[in-house]
Amino acid sequence: MSDKKGNKKVGLIGCGAIGTVLAEAIERKIVVCDELVVYDFDASKAQKLQSTLNFPVTIVESVDELLALKPKVIVEAASQQAAKDYVPKIVSAGIELIVMSTGALLSLNVDLSRVHVPSGAIGGLDALASAALAGIDEVVLTSRKNPKALETDNKEEKIVYEGYAEEAARLFPREMNVAATLALTVKPAKVKVRVVSDPSVKRNTHEIQVKWRFGEMFLRFANDPHPENPRTSALAAWSAIKLLQSLLKT
Ligand SMILES: NC(=O)c1ccc[n+]([C@@H]2O[C@H](COP(=O)([O-])OP(=O)(O)OC[C@H]3O[C@@H](n4cnc5c(N)ncnc54)[C@H](O)[C@@H]3O)[C@@H](O)[C@H]2O)c1
Repeated sequence: MSDKKGNKKVGLIGCGAIGTVLAEAIERKIVVCDELVVYDFDASKAQKLQSTLNFPVTIVESVDELLALKPKVIVEAASQQAAKDYVPKIVSAGIELIVMSTGALLSLNVDLSRVHVPSGAIGGLDALASAALAGIDEVVLTSRKNPKALETDNKEEKIVYEGYAEEAARLFPREMNVAATLALTVKPAKVKVRVVSDPSVKRNTHEIQVKWRFGEMFLRFANDPHPENPRTSALAAWSAIKLLQSLLKT
C-alpha cells in the first residue's frame, strides 16, 4: 500500500526553484525521507538536481513510472498545466498530493480529499477559512511585484490587472497562484485581485484585506524573490516543506 505507515518515499514533479529548495531541505534532514523520486519533463533539470544531492534520488521519465514506485506523498512543483494533467491520476492512485500550482485546482473536477494546498507565498489561511464558515463580505488581494517578475518594463507604478481570482490565475498562471489559494480557502466568497507592477519594490508583496461577519483582517507578506525564478518566493517552497514534514509523520 502506498500510504503504509513507515513509507517515507517522496515523489517530486518539477525540479525548478521550488523543487530544488525542497530537495535541499530533505538533504539537510529538515524533512525525514528515505528516497526522493523526481520527474521533470526537462530531463536535464532532474539530472542537475540529482547531481547536487547526497542521498538516494531516483529519476523517472513519466508520472506513471512515479506512481508505480508508490511514494507516500507527491509534491507538484511544475506548472498549472502539469497539475491539470497529473492531479486526476495521482488522486485515483490514492496518493497524498501537495499542489503548488493551485490555479489548476479551480477548474478541476476531482475529489480533493487527498489534495493538500500549502499556504504558498502567503499565510493566515486558518483565520480566513474560519471566517469563511461564519460569512465573508469581502476579500481584496493586492499583489505588488517588480516589473522583472511580471515581465513588463514600466518605469512608473502601474496596475496591470484588476478582476477576480479565477481570471487572475488563468491570465497569470505562474504569478497568481496566491489568488487561487485564497479563492479555494474562502469559497464561496469571491476574491478581488489587483496586480501592481512597481519598479520601486524588490520583494513580492501580497496584501490581503478581509471584511467578515465579526471583524476585519489585514495580512501583509513581503517575500524575497527566488534568485533563479523571480516570480517565486522562498516562502512558497518552505510552505511545501512544512506540509510535507507533517504528512510524512502520519
Ligand atoms: N502556491 C503558491 O503560492 C506558489 C508560489 C510560487 C510558485 N507557485 C507555482 O509552483 C510551480 C513551481 O514553481 P517554480 O518556481 O519551482 O517553477 P520553475 O519554473 O522554477 O520550475 C518548474 C519545473 O517544472 C518543470 N515542468 C514544467 N511543466 C512540467 C510538466 N508538465 N511535467 C513535468 N515537469 C514540468 C520545468 O521543466 C521546471 O524544471 C509553478 O506553477 C508556480 O507558479 C505557487
